[in-house]
Amino acid sequence: MSAPNIETIVSLAKRRGFVFPSSEIYGGLGSAWDYGPLGVELCNNVKRAWWRWMVYERDDMEGLDSSIILNRSVWKYSGHEETFSDPLVDCRECNARLRADKLDIPPGAEDGDIGALIRDKGVKCPNCGSTNLTEPRPFNLMFRTQLGAASTEDDPAALAYLRPETAQGIFINFHLVQQTMRRKVPFGIAQIGKSFRNEVTPGNFIFRTREFEQMEMEYFVRPGEDEQAHQEWIDHCFNWYTSLGLSRDNLRLYEQPREELAHYAKRTVDIHYRFFPERAEEEKHWDELMGIANRTDFDLKAHSKNPVDAEGKRLNPDSTEDLSYFDEARKERYYPYVIEPAAGVNRSVLAFLMDAYSERTNDKGETRVILKLHPELAPIKVAVLPLAKNKPEIVGMARAIKRSLQPVVRAVYDDTGGIGKLYARQDEIGTPFCVTVDHQSLEDEAVTVRDRDTWEQERIKVADLQQHLQTRLLGK
Ligand code: GAP
Repeated sequence: MSAPNIETIVSLAKRRGFVFPSSEIYGGLGSAWDYGPLGVELCNNVKRAWWRWMVYERDDMEGLDSSIILNRSVWKYSGHEETFSDPLVDCRECNARLRADKLDIPPGAEDGDIGALIRDKGVKCPNCGSTNLTEPRPFNLMFRTQLGAASTEDDPAALAYLRPETAQGIFINFHLVQQTMRRKVPFGIAQIGKSFRNEVTPGNFIFRTREFEQMEMEYFVRPGEDEQAHQEWIDHCFNWYTSLGLSRDNLRLYEQPREELAHYAKRTVDIHYRFFPERAEEEKHWDELMGIANRTDFDLKAHSKNPVDAEGKRLNPDSTEDLSYFDEARKERYYPYVIEPAAGVNRSVLAFLMDAYSERTNDKGETRVILKLHPELAPIKVAVLPLAKNKPEIVGMARAIKRSLQPVVRAVYDDTGGIGKLYARQDEIGTPFCVTVDHQSLEDEAVTVRDRDTWEQERIKVADLQQHLQTRLLGK
Protein backbone atom coordinates (compact mmCIF):
# COMPACT_ATOMS: atom_id res chain seq x y z
CA MET A 1 0.00 0.00 0.00
CA SER A 2 1.07 3.61 -0.48
CA ALA A 3 -0.64 6.93 0.30
CA PRO A 4 -3.96 7.37 -1.53
CA ASN A 5 -3.13 11.01 -2.28
CA ILE A 6 -0.75 13.84 -1.37
CA GLU A 7 -3.32 15.33 1.05
CA THR A 8 -2.91 12.32 3.35
CA ILE A 9 0.81 13.09 3.58
CA VAL A 10 0.20 16.83 4.09
CA SER A 11 -1.85 16.11 7.16
CA LEU A 12 0.50 13.45 8.56
CA ALA A 13 3.48 15.72 7.88
CA LYS A 14 1.99 18.58 9.87
CA ARG A 15 0.57 16.44 12.68
CA ARG A 16 3.86 14.65 13.29
CA GLY A 17 6.40 17.42 12.73
CA PHE A 18 7.74 16.63 9.26
CA VAL A 19 6.62 19.68 7.26
CA PHE A 20 4.78 22.85 8.33
CA PRO A 21 3.21 25.54 6.15
CA SER A 22 5.77 28.36 6.19
CA SER A 23 5.05 31.71 7.90
CA GLU A 24 1.76 30.31 9.18
CA ILE A 25 1.38 32.86 12.00
CA TYR A 26 1.26 35.60 9.31
CA GLY A 27 -1.25 33.78 7.14
CA GLY A 28 1.32 31.66 5.34
CA LEU A 29 3.27 32.20 2.13
CA GLY A 30 2.03 30.45 -0.99
CA SER A 31 3.87 27.20 -1.64
CA ALA A 32 6.56 27.73 0.98
CA TRP A 33 7.11 24.97 3.53
CA ASP A 34 9.29 24.58 6.61
CA TYR A 35 10.81 21.23 7.50
CA GLY A 36 10.16 20.38 11.16
CA PRO A 37 12.27 18.22 13.50
CA LEU A 38 11.48 14.98 11.68
CA GLY A 39 11.43 16.53 8.20
CA VAL A 40 14.94 17.92 8.52
CA GLU A 41 16.19 14.48 9.59
CA LEU A 42 14.44 12.83 6.64
CA CYS A 43 15.85 15.38 4.16
CA ASN A 44 19.33 14.99 5.62
CA ASN A 45 19.05 11.20 5.42
CA VAL A 46 17.97 11.37 1.75
CA LYS A 47 20.88 13.68 0.93
CA ARG A 48 23.34 11.55 2.94
CA ALA A 49 22.15 8.38 1.19
CA TRP A 50 22.47 10.04 -2.22
CA TRP A 51 25.97 11.42 -1.47
CA ARG A 52 27.20 8.08 -0.12
CA TRP A 53 25.85 6.25 -3.17
CA MET A 54 26.93 8.88 -5.68
CA VAL A 55 30.31 9.99 -4.29
CA TYR A 56 31.72 7.59 -1.68
CA GLU A 57 30.77 4.29 -3.29
CA ARG A 58 32.33 5.15 -6.66
CA ASP A 59 35.88 5.70 -7.84
CA ASP A 60 35.10 8.37 -10.44
CA MET A 61 33.38 11.10 -8.47
CA GLU A 62 34.19 14.40 -6.73
CA GLY A 63 31.97 16.73 -4.74
CA LEU A 64 31.44 20.48 -4.94
CA ASP A 65 29.54 23.26 -3.19
CA SER A 66 29.37 26.31 -5.45
CA SER A 67 27.76 29.70 -4.76
CA ILE A 68 24.04 30.31 -5.11
CA ILE A 69 24.71 33.74 -6.65
CA LEU A 70 27.08 33.49 -9.60
CA ASN A 71 28.42 36.02 -12.09
CA ARG A 72 25.52 37.06 -14.32
CA SER A 73 27.48 35.92 -17.38
CA VAL A 74 26.99 32.33 -16.26
CA TRP A 75 23.25 32.68 -16.90
CA LYS A 76 23.76 34.62 -20.08
CA TYR A 77 25.96 31.98 -21.71
CA SER A 78 24.08 28.99 -20.27
CA GLY A 79 21.03 30.26 -22.16
CA HIS A 80 18.94 30.83 -19.02
CA GLU A 81 18.55 34.59 -19.50
CA GLU A 82 17.07 34.03 -22.90
CA THR A 83 15.21 30.76 -22.65
CA PHE A 84 14.55 29.74 -19.04
CA SER A 85 10.91 30.72 -19.17
CA ASP A 86 7.43 29.25 -19.03
CA PRO A 87 4.67 30.33 -21.42
CA LEU A 88 2.32 32.44 -19.32
CA VAL A 89 -1.34 33.19 -20.07
CA ASP A 90 -3.79 35.30 -18.10
CA CYS A 91 -7.49 34.63 -17.78
CA ARG A 92 -9.21 37.92 -18.66
CA GLU A 93 -12.27 36.94 -16.59
CA CYS A 94 -10.81 35.86 -13.24
CA ASN A 95 -7.22 37.19 -13.65
CA ALA A 96 -5.72 33.76 -12.93
CA ARG A 97 -2.12 33.42 -14.16
CA LEU A 98 -1.64 30.07 -15.84
CA ARG A 99 1.07 28.02 -17.52
CA ALA A 100 -0.05 27.61 -21.11
CA ASP A 101 1.71 24.24 -21.43
CA LYS A 102 -0.19 22.86 -18.41
CA LEU A 103 -3.67 23.77 -19.67
CA ASP A 104 -6.06 21.00 -20.60
CA ILE A 105 -5.47 20.92 -24.34
CA PRO A 106 -7.76 18.32 -25.99
CA PRO A 107 -6.16 15.03 -27.05
CA GLY A 108 -4.93 14.95 -30.62
CA ALA A 109 -4.06 18.64 -30.45
CA GLU A 110 -0.51 18.28 -29.09
CA ASP A 111 1.32 19.55 -32.13
CA GLY A 112 1.76 23.11 -33.23
CA ASP A 113 1.73 26.60 -31.86
CA ILE A 114 0.36 26.58 -28.33
CA GLY A 115 -1.27 30.04 -28.67
CA ALA A 116 -3.20 28.95 -31.76
CA LEU A 117 -4.28 25.75 -30.03
CA ILE A 118 -5.59 27.62 -27.02
CA ARG A 119 -7.59 29.94 -29.32
CA ASP A 120 -8.85 27.36 -31.79
CA LYS A 121 -9.70 24.56 -29.39
CA GLY A 122 -11.56 26.81 -26.94
CA VAL A 123 -9.25 25.84 -24.06
CA LYS A 124 -10.78 26.78 -20.72
CA CYS A 125 -9.36 28.49 -17.63
CA PRO A 126 -9.20 25.74 -14.95
CA ASN A 127 -10.18 28.35 -12.36
CA CYS A 128 -13.40 29.81 -13.81
CA GLY A 129 -14.06 27.94 -17.07
CA SER A 130 -13.74 31.00 -19.31
CA THR A 131 -12.13 30.69 -22.74
CA ASN A 132 -11.14 34.36 -22.64
CA LEU A 133 -7.38 33.77 -22.30
CA THR A 134 -4.50 36.00 -23.42
CA GLU A 135 -1.82 34.96 -25.90
CA PRO A 136 1.05 33.09 -24.21
CA ARG A 137 4.13 35.15 -23.43
CA PRO A 138 7.46 34.00 -21.98
CA PHE A 139 7.92 34.52 -18.24
CA ASN A 140 11.52 34.11 -17.06
CA LEU A 141 11.67 31.94 -13.96
CA MET A 142 14.92 33.27 -12.51
CA PHE A 143 14.69 35.29 -9.30
CA ARG A 144 16.44 38.62 -9.75
CA THR A 145 18.37 40.46 -7.09
CA GLN A 146 20.86 43.35 -6.91
CA LEU A 147 24.36 43.17 -5.56
CA GLY A 148 25.83 45.91 -3.39
CA ALA A 149 24.49 48.75 -1.28
CA ALA A 150 24.60 51.47 -3.92
CA SER A 151 22.67 49.66 -6.62
CA THR A 152 19.26 50.72 -7.83
CA GLU A 153 16.59 48.29 -8.87
CA ASP A 154 17.23 48.58 -12.60
CA ASP A 155 21.03 48.93 -12.55
CA PRO A 156 22.19 46.28 -15.03
CA ALA A 157 25.68 46.30 -13.51
CA ALA A 158 24.23 45.12 -10.20
CA LEU A 159 21.78 42.58 -11.59
CA ALA A 160 22.26 39.04 -10.36
CA TYR A 161 20.14 35.91 -10.07
CA LEU A 162 19.53 33.23 -7.51
CA ARG A 163 20.60 30.04 -9.28
CA PRO A 164 17.74 28.08 -10.86
CA GLU A 165 19.88 24.90 -11.00
CA THR A 166 23.03 23.77 -9.26
CA ALA A 167 24.46 22.42 -12.52
CA GLN A 168 26.06 25.62 -13.83
CA GLY A 169 28.25 25.93 -10.73
CA ILE A 170 29.69 22.56 -11.71
CA PHE A 171 30.41 23.49 -15.35
CA ILE A 172 32.27 26.67 -14.49
CA ASN A 173 34.44 24.73 -12.00
CA PHE A 174 35.09 21.80 -14.37
CA HIS A 175 38.75 22.61 -14.98
CA LEU A 176 39.52 23.50 -11.38
CA VAL A 177 38.10 20.21 -10.10
CA GLN A 178 39.66 18.15 -12.87
CA GLN A 179 43.11 19.67 -12.41
CA THR A 180 43.25 19.90 -8.61
CA MET A 181 42.00 16.33 -8.22
CA ARG A 182 44.07 15.03 -11.19
CA ARG A 183 41.00 13.45 -12.77
CA LYS A 184 40.78 11.84 -16.19
CA VAL A 185 37.59 11.73 -18.25
CA PRO A 186 35.25 9.94 -17.57
CA PHE A 187 34.53 11.32 -14.12
CA GLY A 188 31.71 13.17 -12.40
CA ILE A 189 31.12 16.13 -10.10
CA ALA A 190 28.22 15.99 -7.64
CA GLN A 191 26.55 18.82 -5.82
CA ILE A 192 23.61 19.21 -3.45
CA GLY A 193 22.11 22.61 -2.79
CA LYS A 194 19.25 25.06 -2.95
CA SER A 195 17.84 26.32 -6.23
CA PHE A 196 15.20 28.94 -6.86
CA ARG A 197 12.57 29.31 -9.58
CA ASN A 198 9.79 31.86 -9.67
CA GLU A 199 7.29 29.17 -10.70
CA VAL A 200 4.06 30.45 -12.29
CA THR A 201 1.98 27.69 -10.75
CA PRO A 202 3.73 26.14 -7.75
CA GLY A 203 1.74 23.67 -5.72
CA ASN A 204 0.95 20.13 -4.70
CA PHE A 205 2.67 20.54 -1.33
CA ILE A 206 6.46 20.16 -1.64
CA PHE A 207 6.23 18.86 -5.22
CA ARG A 208 6.67 22.25 -6.85
CA THR A 209 7.93 25.19 -4.80
CA ARG A 210 9.88 28.33 -5.57
CA GLU A 211 12.74 27.44 -3.25
CA PHE A 212 13.84 23.82 -3.37
CA GLU A 213 16.87 21.62 -3.13
CA GLN A 214 18.57 19.67 -5.89
CA MET A 215 20.97 16.72 -5.97
CA GLU A 216 22.77 16.97 -9.30
CA MET A 217 25.74 15.25 -10.86
CA GLU A 218 27.48 16.10 -14.11
CA TYR A 219 29.31 13.13 -15.60
CA PHE A 220 31.95 14.09 -18.18
CA VAL A 221 32.58 11.58 -20.97
CA ARG A 222 34.35 11.43 -24.30
CA PRO A 223 32.00 12.31 -27.20
CA GLY A 224 30.79 9.07 -28.70
CA GLU A 225 30.75 7.36 -25.31
CA ASP A 226 27.84 9.48 -24.16
CA GLU A 227 24.92 7.29 -25.23
CA GLN A 228 26.07 4.23 -23.34
CA ALA A 229 26.93 6.27 -20.23
CA HIS A 230 23.51 7.90 -20.43
CA GLN A 231 21.73 4.55 -20.43
CA GLU A 232 23.84 3.33 -17.50
CA TRP A 233 22.96 6.38 -15.43
CA ILE A 234 19.25 5.95 -16.18
CA ASP A 235 19.45 2.40 -14.79
CA HIS A 236 21.59 3.40 -11.77
CA CYS A 237 19.15 6.13 -10.78
CA PHE A 238 16.08 3.94 -11.13
CA ASN A 239 17.78 1.29 -8.98
CA TRP A 240 18.76 3.85 -6.34
CA TYR A 241 15.12 4.70 -5.71
CA THR A 242 14.03 1.05 -5.55
CA SER A 243 16.97 0.18 -3.26
CA LEU A 244 15.59 2.73 -0.80
CA GLY A 245 12.15 1.20 -0.86
CA LEU A 246 10.17 2.82 -3.69
CA SER A 247 7.88 0.29 -5.31
CA ARG A 248 8.49 -0.43 -8.99
CA ASP A 249 4.72 -0.17 -9.53
CA ASN A 250 4.92 3.50 -8.59
CA LEU A 251 7.89 4.31 -10.84
CA ARG A 252 8.23 4.53 -14.60
CA LEU A 253 10.69 5.84 -17.16
CA TYR A 254 9.49 8.60 -19.45
CA GLU A 255 11.31 9.39 -22.67
CA GLN A 256 10.96 13.13 -23.32
CA PRO A 257 9.69 13.74 -26.85
CA ARG A 258 11.75 16.06 -29.04
CA GLU A 259 9.46 19.06 -28.50
CA GLU A 260 9.86 18.80 -24.71
CA LEU A 261 13.67 18.64 -24.71
CA ALA A 262 15.56 21.54 -23.14
CA HIS A 263 17.70 23.61 -25.53
CA TYR A 264 20.86 21.81 -24.40
CA ALA A 265 19.61 18.22 -24.47
CA LYS A 266 20.17 15.48 -27.03
CA ARG A 267 18.04 13.01 -25.07
CA THR A 268 16.37 13.15 -21.66
CA VAL A 269 14.68 10.37 -19.75
CA ASP A 270 12.69 11.27 -16.65
CA ILE A 271 11.92 8.99 -13.77
CA HIS A 272 8.26 9.48 -12.98
CA TYR A 273 6.60 8.69 -9.66
CA ARG A 274 2.89 8.03 -9.15
CA PHE A 275 2.34 11.26 -7.20
CA PHE A 276 -1.39 11.43 -8.06
CA PRO A 277 -2.90 7.92 -7.67
CA GLU A 278 -6.34 9.39 -6.94
CA ARG A 279 -6.76 10.75 -10.50
CA ALA A 280 -9.22 8.87 -12.67
CA GLU A 281 -6.99 8.65 -15.71
CA GLU A 282 -3.91 6.43 -15.22
CA GLU A 283 -1.82 8.70 -17.47
CA LYS A 284 -2.39 11.60 -15.05
CA HIS A 285 -1.08 9.66 -12.03
CA TRP A 286 2.49 10.40 -13.00
CA ASP A 287 4.87 13.32 -12.71
CA GLU A 288 8.61 13.91 -12.75
CA LEU A 289 10.70 12.75 -9.83
CA MET A 290 14.03 13.36 -11.55
CA GLY A 291 15.53 13.74 -15.02
CA ILE A 292 18.60 12.19 -16.61
CA ALA A 293 19.77 14.31 -19.54
CA ASN A 294 22.47 14.01 -22.17
CA ARG A 295 23.54 17.69 -22.29
CA THR A 296 26.16 17.05 -24.99
CA ASP A 297 29.11 19.49 -24.96
CA PHE A 298 26.71 22.45 -24.88
CA ASP A 299 27.66 23.79 -21.45
CA LEU A 300 31.44 23.43 -21.52
CA LYS A 301 31.54 25.00 -24.98
CA ALA A 302 29.14 27.78 -24.02
CA HIS A 303 31.35 28.82 -21.09
CA SER A 304 34.58 28.64 -23.11
CA LYS A 305 36.46 31.54 -24.68
CA ASN A 306 37.58 29.67 -27.81
CA PRO A 307 34.57 28.58 -29.91
CA VAL A 308 33.86 30.98 -32.79
CA ASP A 309 30.99 31.46 -35.21
CA ALA A 310 31.11 31.19 -39.03
CA GLU A 311 32.76 34.64 -39.25
CA GLY A 312 35.42 33.72 -36.71
CA LYS A 313 33.83 35.84 -33.96
CA ARG A 314 34.10 34.48 -30.40
CA LEU A 315 30.78 33.08 -29.18
CA ASN A 316 31.69 33.91 -25.59
CA PRO A 317 33.85 37.07 -25.42
CA ASP A 318 33.50 37.25 -21.61
CA SER A 319 35.06 33.93 -20.61
CA THR A 320 38.75 33.83 -19.77
CA GLU A 321 39.05 30.05 -19.95
CA ASP A 322 38.74 27.28 -22.49
CA LEU A 323 37.02 24.31 -20.87
CA SER A 324 38.15 21.72 -23.38
CA TYR A 325 40.01 18.66 -22.13
CA PHE A 326 43.22 17.11 -23.39
CA ASP A 327 43.06 13.33 -23.39
CA GLU A 328 46.70 12.31 -22.80
CA ALA A 329 46.20 8.66 -23.67
CA ARG A 330 44.59 9.42 -27.04
CA LYS A 331 46.47 12.65 -27.67
CA GLU A 332 43.26 14.41 -28.56
CA ARG A 333 41.51 17.54 -27.32
CA TYR A 334 37.75 17.73 -27.01
CA TYR A 335 34.87 19.25 -25.07
CA PRO A 336 33.51 16.39 -22.95
CA TYR A 337 29.86 15.44 -23.27
CA VAL A 338 27.85 15.63 -20.07
CA ILE A 339 25.37 13.13 -18.65
CA GLU A 340 23.32 14.76 -15.93
CA PRO A 341 21.20 12.93 -13.35
CA ALA A 342 19.24 15.75 -11.67
CA ALA A 343 16.96 14.98 -8.74
CA GLY A 344 14.95 17.08 -6.32
CA VAL A 345 15.45 16.47 -2.60
CA ASN A 346 11.92 17.60 -1.81
CA ARG A 347 10.24 15.55 -4.52
CA SER A 348 12.26 12.54 -3.42
CA VAL A 349 11.16 13.10 0.18
CA LEU A 350 7.53 13.31 -0.98
CA ALA A 351 7.85 10.09 -2.97
CA PHE A 352 9.52 8.27 -0.05
CA LEU A 353 6.76 9.45 2.31
CA MET A 354 3.95 8.46 -0.07
CA ASP A 355 5.42 5.05 -0.78
CA ALA A 356 6.09 4.30 2.89
CA TYR A 357 2.55 5.11 3.96
CA SER A 358 0.50 2.12 5.06
CA GLU A 359 -2.35 1.30 7.43
CA ARG A 360 -2.91 -1.68 9.69
CA THR A 361 -5.76 -2.63 12.01
CA ASN A 362 -4.87 -3.79 15.52
CA ASP A 363 -6.67 -6.39 17.75
CA LYS A 364 -9.05 -3.70 18.99
CA GLY A 365 -10.15 -2.87 15.46
CA GLU A 366 -8.29 0.48 15.45
CA THR A 367 -6.58 1.54 12.24
CA ARG A 368 -2.97 2.59 12.70
CA VAL A 369 -0.74 4.41 10.26
CA ILE A 370 2.67 2.83 9.74
CA LEU A 371 5.32 4.70 7.82
CA LYS A 372 7.48 1.92 6.42
CA LEU A 373 10.46 4.11 5.58
CA HIS A 374 13.69 2.39 4.67
CA PRO A 375 15.78 2.29 7.91
CA GLU A 376 18.46 4.44 6.28
CA LEU A 377 15.90 7.19 5.72
CA ALA A 378 13.90 6.90 8.94
CA PRO A 379 14.30 10.14 10.95
CA ILE A 380 14.61 8.18 14.22
CA LYS A 381 16.06 4.68 14.24
CA VAL A 382 15.25 3.60 17.81
CA ALA A 383 12.81 4.81 20.48
CA VAL A 384 13.52 3.76 24.06
CA LEU A 385 10.32 3.54 26.11
CA PRO A 386 9.86 2.84 29.84
CA LEU A 387 6.85 0.67 30.61
CA ALA A 388 6.22 2.57 33.86
CA LYS A 389 7.24 6.20 34.01
CA ASN A 390 6.62 6.42 37.75
CA LYS A 391 9.26 3.79 38.51
CA PRO A 392 12.60 5.65 38.83
CA GLU A 393 14.68 2.47 38.29
CA ILE A 394 12.90 1.71 35.00
CA VAL A 395 13.13 5.34 33.83
CA GLY A 396 16.80 5.49 34.83
CA MET A 397 17.60 2.29 32.93
CA ALA A 398 15.70 3.45 29.82
CA ARG A 399 17.49 6.81 29.81
CA ALA A 400 20.86 5.11 30.25
CA ILE A 401 20.12 2.81 27.30
CA LYS A 402 19.14 5.79 25.14
CA ARG A 403 22.38 7.57 26.07
CA SER A 404 24.44 4.48 25.25
CA LEU A 405 22.82 4.19 21.80
CA GLN A 406 22.88 7.85 20.75
CA PRO A 407 26.54 8.02 19.64
CA VAL A 408 25.87 5.35 17.01
CA VAL A 409 22.20 5.63 16.02
CA ARG A 410 19.59 8.38 16.20
CA ALA A 411 17.70 7.37 19.35
CA VAL A 412 14.99 9.10 21.40
CA TYR A 413 13.48 8.52 24.82
CA ASP A 414 9.71 8.92 25.24
CA ASP A 415 7.52 8.45 28.32
CA THR A 416 4.64 10.75 27.43
CA GLY A 417 1.93 8.10 27.18
CA GLY A 418 0.93 4.49 27.69
CA ILE A 419 2.94 1.90 25.80
CA GLY A 420 0.27 1.34 23.10
CA LYS A 421 0.15 5.04 22.33
CA LEU A 422 3.94 5.29 22.28
CA TYR A 423 4.22 2.40 19.81
CA ALA A 424 1.54 3.93 17.60
CA ARG A 425 3.35 7.27 17.55
CA GLN A 426 6.66 5.68 16.58
CA ASP A 427 4.97 3.58 13.85
CA GLU A 428 3.43 6.71 12.40
CA ILE A 429 6.79 8.50 12.11
CA GLY A 430 8.57 5.46 10.71
CA THR A 431 10.85 4.45 13.62
CA PRO A 432 12.04 0.92 12.74
CA PHE A 433 12.54 -0.27 16.36
CA CYS A 434 11.13 0.40 19.80
CA VAL A 435 13.03 -0.79 22.86
CA THR A 436 10.90 -1.26 25.97
CA VAL A 437 12.27 -1.39 29.48
CA ASP A 438 9.95 -3.20 31.93
CA HIS A 439 9.99 -4.53 35.48
CA GLN A 440 11.70 -7.73 34.42
CA SER A 441 14.50 -5.73 32.77
CA LEU A 442 15.68 -4.72 36.23
CA GLU A 443 16.25 -8.36 37.01
CA ASP A 444 17.39 -10.00 33.79
CA GLU A 445 19.19 -7.02 32.19
CA ALA A 446 17.17 -7.59 29.00
CA VAL A 447 14.70 -5.44 27.03
CA THR A 448 11.96 -6.00 24.47
CA VAL A 449 12.75 -4.98 20.89
CA ARG A 450 9.64 -4.39 18.77
CA ASP A 451 9.70 -4.36 14.98
CA ARG A 452 7.70 -1.56 13.29
CA ASP A 453 6.64 -3.59 10.26
CA THR A 454 5.71 -6.93 11.85
CA TRP A 455 4.91 -5.74 15.42
CA GLU A 456 6.87 -8.81 16.55
CA GLN A 457 8.80 -8.56 19.80
CA GLU A 458 11.92 -10.29 21.02
CA ARG A 459 13.88 -10.20 24.23
CA ILE A 460 17.48 -8.99 23.90
CA LYS A 461 20.17 -8.63 26.55
CA VAL A 462 21.13 -4.99 27.12
CA ALA A 463 24.78 -5.93 26.58
CA ASP A 464 23.93 -7.17 23.05
CA LEU A 465 21.43 -4.44 22.17
CA GLN A 466 23.63 -2.04 20.21
CA GLN A 467 25.07 -4.79 18.02
CA HIS A 468 21.61 -6.32 17.52
CA LEU A 469 20.08 -3.02 16.40
CA GLN A 470 22.97 -2.09 14.13
CA THR A 471 22.82 -5.46 12.39
CA ARG A 472 19.08 -5.21 11.86
CA LEU A 473 19.19 -1.58 10.72
CA LEU A 474 21.89 -2.27 8.18
CA GLY A 475 20.64 -5.66 7.12
CA LYS A 476 17.00 -4.86 6.58
N1 GAP B 1 20.03 20.86 -14.15
C1 GAP B 1 18.87 20.27 -14.74
C2 GAP B 1 17.64 20.60 -14.04
O1 GAP B 1 17.61 21.44 -13.17
P1 GAP B 1 15.12 20.04 -13.93
O2 GAP B 1 14.36 18.90 -14.52
O3 GAP B 1 14.63 21.40 -14.22
O4 GAP B 1 16.61 19.84 -14.43
C3 GAP B 1 15.72 18.66 -11.82
O5 GAP B 1 15.20 19.84 -12.37
C4 GAP B 1 14.86 18.21 -10.65
O6 GAP B 1 14.74 19.25 -9.69
C5 GAP B 1 13.41 17.86 -11.03
O7 GAP B 1 13.30 16.55 -11.54
C6 GAP B 1 12.71 18.00 -9.69
O8 GAP B 1 12.90 16.85 -8.89
C7 GAP B 1 13.47 19.16 -9.05
N2 GAP B 1 12.72 20.41 -9.25
C8 GAP B 1 12.73 21.23 -10.33
N3 GAP B 1 11.93 22.28 -10.14
C9 GAP B 1 11.38 22.14 -8.91
C10 GAP B 1 10.46 22.91 -8.13
N4 GAP B 1 9.97 24.07 -8.56
N5 GAP B 1 10.11 22.44 -6.91
C11 GAP B 1 10.61 21.28 -6.43
N6 GAP B 1 11.49 20.53 -7.12
C12 GAP B 1 11.88 20.94 -8.34
